[in-house]
Amino acid sequence: MAHIWPIGGGKGGSGKSFLASSLGRLLAKSGKKTLLIDLDLGAANLHTMVGVPYPEKCFSDFVTKKIPVLEDTVLGTPFPNLFLISGAHDNLDIANLPYDKKIKTLRAIAKLQYEYILLDLGAGTAFNTLDFFLASRNGIFITTPEPTSIENVYRLMRAIYFRRIRHYFSATDFKALEKKARQQSGDDSFNKPEHIISIVKKEYPEKYMLIKKDFNSFCFKLILNQLRKQDNTDLGMQICKIIKKHLGINVIFTGNIAYDEHVHDAICQRVCFLDRYPHTRAANDLRELNSKMSDSLGEQLMLNYL
Ligand SMILES: Nc1ncnc2c1ncn2[C@@H]1O[C@H](COP(=O)(O)OP(=O)(O)OP(=O)(O)O)[C@@H](O)[C@H]1O
Ligand SMILES: [Mg+2]
Repeated sequence: MAHIWPIGGGKGGSGKSFLASSLGRLLAKSGKKTLLIDLDLGAANLHTMVGVPYPEKCFSDFVTKKIPVLEDTVLGTPFPNLFLISGAHDNLDIANLPYDKKIKTLRAIAKLQYEYILLDLGAGTAFNTLDFFLASRNGIFITTPEPTSIENVYRLMRAIYFRRIRHYFSATDFKALEKKARQQSGDDSFNKPEHIISIVKKEYPEKYMLIKKDFNSFCFKLILNQLRKQDNTDLGMQICKIIKKHLGINVIFTGNIAYDEHVHDAICQRVCFLDRYPHTRAANDLRELNSKMSDSLGEQLMLNYL
């Protein structure tokens, strides 16, 4: 069974593609058959980070049925064991991927024969992005230490949280819940998830227990990228505490990745950072993260919630 790692961050430029390509490279190097899927449709650039300058096929060929089987859109990379489904040439916007195509894609991903499948999800909180993130229990959030990036990753977590809760209610019940929240806590009640969950706890205790159990089974992770010397190294831990307090969900702080000018250099040279600059602090951080993360259990995609 494949390990599926969706990688999401609220803000563009936080390092999702850099992380996906680096973890992919490390997993592949350790002998794991690894597939990267670029789902940052419309702004795909993962191919450039794994040495595939001109992908001759891509994900949208599957969506448009030009290539009927998802596996046939897979490209090799210059690295043994590392494969890619590129998002290049896609003029699709993930937000506009119709429901039936999303389900078809997830079912097709579930059938792929790889040890690790990493999904580079792109920024934003489009429902499709949330659903790809929630299809696995091992989602990875990434942010930089900048307040704007932290704000956006929090917004993403909150959107994911509500997206999941939404599945436990019929449209009518959810509307009633929204109305009650607005009456009790004002119009910004959806910015304060603890209000919603306190209403769920009181009015729908069975659903509350199910939701709690559901969230406890997730193993969300948070990675802080582009940490400079002067930055607070405990920031990641502090963010996780705030998430626990406001959303009641466990997000495990998994580690920091140092800011390193060489990342920019490697991308400009279109080479893999880890191969060109293996003795840097950031490369060390990535190796540490990879060894912490790669012993999680493989799992089935959760398609029943869609
Ligand atoms: N640890 C790092 N040190 C220095 N620069 C970094 C680091 N990580 C990423 N960067 C820089 O940030 C830029 C953005 O990274 P990346 O493309 O991975 O972000 P992204 O989250 O995928 O963005 P988008 O949402 O636009 O796809 C890179 O081009 C690189 O120059
Ligand atoms: Mg990207």
